[in-house]
Amino acid sequence: MTHKPILTCQNIKKVYQDGDRTIPVLESVNFSVMPGESVAIVGRSGSGKTTLLNLLGGLEAPTTGEVVLDNTNLHALSDRKRGYLRNRVLGLIFQFHHLLPEFTALENVCMPLLIQGTSVREAKKRSESILEKVSLGHRMQHKPATMSGGERQRVAIARALVTHPKCILADEPTGNLDNQSADLIYDLMMQLVGEFGTSFIVVTHDLALAKRMNRIVSLEKGVLRDGI
Ligand SMILES: Nc1ncnc2c1ncn2[C@@H]1O[C@H](COP(=O)(O)OP(=O)(O)OP(=O)(O)O)[C@@H](O)[C@H]1O
Ligand SMILES: [Mg+2]
Repeated sequence: MTHKPILTCQNIKKVYQDGDRTIPVLESVNFSVMPGESVAIVGRSGSGKTTLLNLLGGLEAPTTGEVVLDNTNLHALSDRKRGYLRNRVLGLIFQFHHLLPEFTALENVCMPLLIQGTSVREAKKRSESILEKVSLGHRMQHKPATMSGGERQRVAIARALVTHPKCILADEPTGNLDNQSADLIYDLMMQLVGEFGTSFIVVTHDLALAKRMNRIVSLEKGVLRDGI
């Protein structure tokens, strides 16, 4: 872990405007993650964890401050270039997993590889292998509507991991999984971290899982600080 951070944010502030009400969520967040580092973000419900992940992933813009991903200022890019960077560098696992309903599990997992220009044959091979790893070998041809919540979650996880991203952003990735499935998913993620030097930023309420990360940070009153 000697090189530059994969992801940095400086003096991030986020205020939502709801009619004439202003809702300050993040006051001043400074944060950086090195290649291969894993970090858990904890904090109470409503403290702004999802908001922060959305900013780090470039899905929302900060009110002020900068997010630098892989040496590039995310919010200085056009939507198209930001989308391209996200596809190349990040794996996103969010609370609402946004699987494409009209496609099968296998096709959903193939999608980010196809966007990168991987051949259909290779994309299928890699997607099948990762779906096996999340114990969904028997559900590859199912569409999201015919899968359980936990199964859909695992498809979303497989889709985020299949490109071997430099950095994974995950919001309660194992929230609706039983303990055994959650452990399996974390094992897989930690394996990737070890094997590919993937950085891993995870929001979780589960302290046992948080403690498996290199570092824990807490979000409270709009500020991120080290420790619980
Ligand atoms: N688009 C929005 N417009 C207005 N307020 C918002 C918006 N999105 C989030 N908020 C508010 O910002 C605060 C932080 O929300 P956020 O979803 O980031 O919390 P969280 O820490 O992820 O909570 P949880 O643990 O329940 O998922 C909340 O008070 C929420 O109501
Ligand atoms: Mg949240």
